[in-house]
Amino acid sequence: MRTSVFTWILILCLSTISAQSNYHSQHDPEEPKLTNLHFFLHEAPGGSNPTVAMIAQSNITVDVNNSSMPFGTVYAVDDPLRVGPEPNSELIGNAQGLTVIIAGRSTPPSVLLHFDFGFTTGKFNGSSISVLSRNPTTDMERELTVVGGRGKFRMAKGFAHLKVYSANATVIIAELNVTVIHYEGRSEI
Ligand SMILES: *[C@@H]1O[C@H](CO)[C@@H](O)[C@H](O)[C@H]1NC(C)=O
Ligand SMILES: *[C@@H]1O[C@H](CO)[C@@H](O)[C@H](O)[C@H]1NC(C)=O
Ligand SMILES: *[C@@H]1O[C@H](CO)[C@@H](O)[C@H](O)[C@H]1NC(C)=O
Ligand SMILES: *[C@@H]1O[C@H](CO)[C@@H](O)[C@H](O)[C@H]1NC(C)=O
Ligand SMILES: *[C@@H]1O[C@H](CO)[C@@H](O)[C@H](O)[C@H]1NC(C)=O
Ligand SMILES: *[C@@H]1O[C@H](CO)[C@@H](O)[C@H](O)[C@H]1NC(C)=O
Repeated sequence: MRTSVFTWILILCLSTISAQSNYHSQHDPEEPKLTNLHFFLHEAPGGSNPTVAMIAQSNITVDVNNSSMPFGTVYAVDDPLRVGPEPNSELIGNAQGLTVIIAGRSTPPSVLLHFDFGFTTGKFNGSSISVLSRNPTTDMERELTVVGGRGKFRMAKGFAHLKVYSANATVIIAELNVTVIHYEGRSEI
């Protein structure tokens, strides 16, 4: 009798261990990758084919440096990403997202950028990198935080340097260097 109870306890323990080891079973751990990307974002705030649309605007104006500015204007953005600054340079993807212009009520006035850089060609076709950061509106060079990614950019962490290459009322061209640590991912996960 004692033996059989003991045996049952042993069997229960073994089945628990086996269930746990199944639950935790995995493939060889994947090494993280470091990737640097360099491309240009082409934004058309105006003109006949704008890439930016205002969604909403608050009725609050803030006094920044004694000049009145709107606080809390939200724009939807879908900007092409190209290899170079030329308008006909090879298209590699797009930056879809939201910007909040004047995102802060104090000086210096800030802009909040939330973009998903999606790639449509090459090794990273179908993969994307998400960034989310605030910057002073006046900055011609900005650092953005990479907060995540999809596809080959799973679990991405890193940063992006954005530099305004040229700007007028109809076209803003920005150069970007993105540095991310990520896992390329496996289809079975
Ligand atoms: C902004 O809109 C809200 C809601 O309609 C209203 O209560 C408020 O008085 C408005 N503020 C200004 C500065 O117009
Ligand atoms: C804003 O205007 C007030 C009143 O005219 C003045 O005292 C103050 O120095 C100004 N501030 C700035 C940053 O120009
Ligand atoms: C605010 O005004 C001061 C004095 O005119 C100027 O030096 C500063 O650049 C201004 N800041 C912004 C954010 O416009
Ligand atoms: C990118 O992936 C999509 C979806 O799988 C495919 O239709 C398209 O042909 C690919 N583009 C290139 C340039 O490989
Ligand atoms: C990106 O990197 C290249 C090469 O190091 C450099 O020449 C360029 O100024 C950088 N641009 C930005 C926006 O960081
Ligand atoms: C704005 O810049 C773009 C690219 O440099 C140029 O093609 C366009 O003619 C410029 N537009 C104006 C209104 O200056």
